[in-house]
Amino acid sequence: MGKILLTGGCGFIGSHTAVELINEGYEIVIADDLSNSSRDTVDKIETITGKRPLFYEIDVADAAALTALFAEQPIDAVIHFAGFKAVGESVEKPLAYYRNNLDSTLTLLETMSRYGTKCFVFSSSATVYGDAEPPFSEEMKTGGCTNPYGWTKYMIEQILKDAAHADPSLSVVLLRYFNPVGAHESGLIGEKPSGIPNNLMPYISQVAAGIRDHLNVFGNDYPTPDGTCIRDYIHVVDLAKGHVAALGYGLAHTGAEIFNLGTGRGSSVLEMIRAFETANHLTIPFEIAPRRAGDLPFSFAKTEKAEKLLGWKAQKSLTDMCRDAWTFEKSCH
Ligand code: WQD
Repeated sequence: MGKILLTGGCGFIGSHTAVELINEGYEIVIADDLSNSSRDTVDKIETITGKRPLFYEIDVADAAALTALFAEQPIDAVIHFAGFKAVGESVEKPLAYYRNNLDSTLTLLETMSRYGTKCFVFSSSATVYGDAEPPFSEEMKTGGCTNPYGWTKYMIEQILKDAAHADPSLSVVLLRYFNPVGAHESGLIGEKPSGIPNNLMPYISQVAAGIRDHLNVFGNDYPTPDGTCIRDYIHVVDLAKGHVAALGYGLAHTGAEIFNLGTGRGSSVLEMIRAFETANHLTIPFEIAPRRAGDLPFSFAKTEKAEKLLGWKAQKSLTDMCRDAWTFEKSCH
């Protein structure tokens, strides 16, 4: 059997997926340019699993470097995590986002085609549902994204669907993530944002650690039960297991298939603060701040398709997410 290439395998979701794939007996190769991750993640994956993944420090948009990797390693499938992902930054630097996210995908597809690799699993996002009415289901119309980051996901989905249509031997699995949080229970790998965190859970963790003095809650006048936005938070280890199931599906089928990876359950910002406080026996100071541009009041998944076709369902609770996020945060200091 060949190997599974994980682009961005040193990142938050990539590293957790690497662990779950190794646990299931897959041989993996990580390609990461370390632009938003660190090399010691490879050591951490080895500590957790007892197996060291092969590692290439390359930018997967670099066609020559990617070709050299494919020439050395027999690759059965690619899981493409690598990409720019900061929503606000994508508004400031749209060309960098389109260039990087689209180029890396195209280079991967072209290289796979030359080496006969037929299976591609892609990190998409619930952001492609735009301002549609939740629960979001896979067959809903997409688009209406509120920032260039979201449009890169939308465009890459289209590129992959077209590629699968043109080549019936290709297998494409599009995974629409909801809000991944938490960390591996070992505390060895997790989400380490550089600079001020954009996302809620890393921000709460840094307030708990005393790095920031309080959390700003962006708006409490939304049409939701407590006025704060509702999101479908999913434990990153559940998400990683969803990738193992999706890879198995992709290796056994051809064509393009889309799956939501969420829990189907929505939680508000205030509920998340309370869950973190209760799980970890501490207090998170917060203030109500103005709404953040582009935020939608509600986002949560319809999860039946992944349950039915992948046999996968998220298992972990909000308490697990909050406890594991805090264990990781503490291990960083
Ligand atoms: C969650 C809720 C905020 C920070 C984003 C991207 C999405 C995906 C995941 C990633 C919202 C509120 C947050 C804070 C707050 N992409 N909040 N204070 O916006 O649902 O999704 O990340 O790579 O494409 O859009 O997640 O964690 O930023 O926000 O009140 O300091 O927490 O307003 O309601 P979001 P988030």
